[in-house]
Amino acid sequence: MARAQSRYVCQSCGASVLRWEGQCRSCGEWNTLVETVIREEPRRPSAAALAGAAAVPVALSHPDTAAEARRPVGIGELDRVLGGGLVAGSVVLIGGEPGIGKSTLLLQVAAGVANGTGGAPGGDVLYATGEESTSQVRLRAARLGLTSGPVGDAIRVVAETEVGRIVELARGERPALLLVDSVQTVASDELDGPPGSVGQVRESTLRLMEVAKAEGMPVVLVGHVTKDGTLAGPKTLEHLVDVVLSIEGDRTGGLRLLRAAKNRYGSTEEVGVFEMGERGLDEVADPARAFLAEHESPAPGSVVAPVLEGSRPLLVEVQALVAPTAAPSPRRTASGVDPNRLALLVAVLGRRAGIGLSGHDVYANLAGGLTVTEPGLDLPLALALASSLRDRPLVPGTVAIGEVGLLGELRSVGGLDRRLREAARLGFTRAIVPRAHGRETAPVPGVEAVVAGSLSDAIREALGDTGRRPPS
Ligand code: TYD
Ligand code: MG
Repeated sequence: MARAQSRYVCQSCGASVLRWEGQCRSCGEWNTLVETVIREEPRRPSAAALAGAAAVPVALSHPDTAAEARRPVGIGELDRVLGGGLVAGSVVLIGGEPGIGKSTLLLQVAAGVANGTGGAPGGDVLYATGEESTSQVRLRAARLGLTSGPVGDAIRVVAETEVGRIVELARGERPALLLVDSVQTVASDELDGPPGSVGQVRESTLRLMEVAKAEGMPVVLVGHVTKDGTLAGPKTLEHLVDVVLSIEGDRTGGLRLLRAAKNRYGSTEEVGVFEMGERGLDEVADPARAFLAEHESPAPGSVVAPVLEGSRPLLVEVQALVAPTAAPSPRRTASGVDPNRLALLVAVLGRRAGIGLSGHDVYANLAGGLTVTEPGLDLPLALALASSLRDRPLVPGTVAIGEVGLLGELRSVGGLDRRLREAARLGFTRAIVPRAHGRETAPVPGVEAVVAGSLSDAIREALGDTGRRPPS
């Protein structure tokens, strides 16, 4: 095969040189030179050029034909995150830590498309694997019950890592879906860099995008994630592809959360909830309940919070443990919550609510391996800390939500009625919420909204110090 010319192109200023250097000579940036194939023809012909016509402006009111070319996979939780299904010609990147279930999800997507479970007619799927051998993929497929029948025929697996060859196969077979596991194992013969290097990952993705657009075929890539949570390889990959999904969760537990970090065809707010079972990832029927820890009686340090993930209310359990220590700098350990928020709440509790934790180790955690970043988690977290320090459980049936300010004041959160309705549905009867400014919140049947203006008020209400007896 004739080798194309390759050059090292600075990702910062665009200058190109023949050999790799640590610093770009033209702009002075470090580590920005990436090996890139130089071709005669333009890299990415426009859609109109592919159709053999000049581009014509189209009115916004004109019906969009491309929008209809969406194929639901038939996995409800995934289709929800995708915004309705896989769009023809789009490239989707699925990221996640090793062992989280990326390859499993990929096979289940293959099965959905092969079976036509989403409503579209079933189609062939080409699965290129560089991570595992074909027999390893077959073993997993057998576990998922996909080796026999029409599905077994429709999904074709190839152990191939040369991207040119994968593209050739895809052009020849024209499958309804192309899967590549993983983008870090594929490479182009035209570049010298090893698979997984910035240049190779970028070039491979570009080549796969080209075939996706030209054939109108969706392509799903798997990508590994580094410890700090970013997709390994270049950040540029995230800019190239149309959709970036990530699978999160506690690998030792069963629950998995699917989020869209980027979606050109839908919202990035929606989440999908799965559970890893004996036969792959199962959709969780009642996700609102999934992240609640299982214990009968209320425990000190535990607070249930109705958080919103996109448009979906989830009830999560915030757990805190405080323990006296003689160490000069006590521990602050957070998992699933923002450690900076935790540190701030410890300070606010000490200064504004009489809950001094300077002589205590503090541990905070969300049950179920979930990570929540919304500010509304402040109040439940602060209450969990107070409850643990006082060694008193919350009044039974209580949830709490709200942002805490530096002065110990509480700020309201969006979508309060939606959150409270969900809490009521799951049997909670009392909700500690910030005083809403300007607008009264409509009462939600079944839940008494206890309005608190400050953190100390909220703590009194939560722990039942108000003179009123908690309902038994
Ligand atoms: P895998 O999809 O291989 O993860 P990744 O591709 O992200 O590295 O799956 C990882 C784990 O899931 C593995 O430890 C085994 C487990 N698993 C199940 O529990 N049930 C199943 O049905 C399958 C296929 C895997
Ligand atoms: Mg894998």
